[in-house]
Amino acid sequence: RQLLLDQLPDAQVMIVSNREPYIHNRENGEIKLQIPASGLVSALEPVMRACRGVWIAHGGGSADRETVDKNSRLMVPPADPTYALRRVWLSEEEQDGYYYGLANEGLWPLCHIAFIRPTFREQDWAMYRAVNQRFADVVVEEATCENPIVLVQDYHFALLPRMIRKALPKATVVTFWHIPWPNAETFSICPWREEILDGLLGSSILGFHTQFHCNNFFDSVDRFIESRIDHENSLVSFGGRETLVRPYPISIEWPPRGLLNQPSVEQCRINVRERFGLAPDTRIAVGVERFDYTKGILDRMRAVDDLLTMAPQWRGKFVLIQVAAPTRSKLDAYAALEAEARNLADEINAKYARDNWSPILLVVRHHEPTEVFELFRAADACVVSSLHDGMNLVAKEFIAARDDERGVLILSSFAGAAYELPEALIVNPYDTHQMAKAYDRALTMSEEEQAGRMQIMVAQISERNVYRWAAQMLFDASWLRRREKIVPSD
Ligand code: G6P
Repeated sequence: RQLLLDQLPDAQVMIVSNREPYIHNRENGEIKLQIPASGLVSALEPVMRACRGVWIAHGGGSADRETVDKNSRLMVPPADPTYALRRVWLSEEEQDGYYYGLANEGLWPLCHIAFIRPTFREQDWAMYRAVNQRFADVVVEEATCENPIVLVQDYHFALLPRMIRKALPKATVVTFWHIPWPNAETFSICPWREEILDGLLGSSILGFHTQFHCNNFFDSVDRFIESRIDHENSLVSFGGRETLVRPYPISIEWPPRGLLNQPSVEQCRINVRERFGLAPDTRIAVGVERFDYTKGILDRMRAVDDLLTMAPQWRGKFVLIQVAAPTRSKLDAYAALEAEARNLADEINAKYARDNWSPILLVVRHHEPTEVFELFRAADACVVSSLHDGMNLVAKEFIAARDDERGVLILSSFAGAAYELPEALIVNPYDTHQMAKAYDRALTMSEEEQAGRMQIMVAQISERNVYRWAAQMLFDASWLRRREKIVPSD
């Protein structure tokens, strides 16, 4: 954290993201606070607490309007107010076009290779442009100087960097793309590929999780717009300006706040086994994510089926607890996935159920971080079987939760995290039998081996934590600002 604080500039820091870090909902007449299930939010929240700036986001909660002042602002975190959350109100029409349509039916499947066809509609694109402009206007409204540092987040805002650059030419715009960047051939599907590249190249810095995604971006730029790429220095020159394009692998905070006030691992095991009505010696694998088709939830269930056929000794002795938070449920692909997952769980359970035992426990609801940590601490293994994922912070959180150095991480080779955590059991989620064998291997791994792998992964994550992620971007930003004073761009 000190690392980050050392990098903090005198300038004002703003974050723009679609999803807000705190959502107020009205439930049964009462206002309830929810922290959303989003890797982006869990990574940026600690950064903002350190920066004390302004976070601009869509106010999507049913009681959000009741909790802000007349400028649509409130100080958060509610328990210890340190920074301002500025909510932007979007109409249903705006959300349909910009968020559900272009962002989540177009760009999301375009960037994740999960074999869901991207859908691009002209009216969604118009709405996406309009909403990006609305956020640009709010950035200008909130700016207290001519050169703020604006941290733009994710695929909801590909056009925003250029819009901010036009309104505040001296701003330092640091954009982070939290999802993969596809190869140029795939990217070419997008009817507005040139506009998207132009929008992003309004950034001073553009970050991806891995070098691989940066290279895909360079290839797309090379193919679709007139620009100069300096591979040696990771710079793209376009329209008289340069953008630094670099990998910044995102991470989690360290020490992890989720560990605070957690009961002992032993107690967590008792609590979770009681809650799910499991016998004390039941072995547990957990999966925790948003109910998203990129996460490979069906694949890990099929692997349980395979495991119980291949190694029948686990019947009655092993369960997969799958926590899935409802997400984007308005979209057909998400509704279809949920129905299919429920059917598959029922089918597998019917095939093997005995006495009071079923192998798959599917819990579809939002879980608060403390609940998730309790589950992690109670588990023998955590399974992250993404078909494609920018980074995946669940993998890192599981490791953070295990201060007892026990538990095995089963990790998809298609998650960015696999580059940093090769000590996990790395699997191809499309290979059901390989995953089944990984479950078996996890359940039979010696305690020494578990501890050995965990120690290496803990060293990696504690060192490369989210403060370092943010500090590295701010460090690069301040280098650019210093350089700009001496060598101004046209
Ligand atoms: C991914 C995206 C984030 C998004 C999160 C949750 O991590 O990269 O931008 O916030 O999923 O999705 P949601 O649509 O619920 O915000």
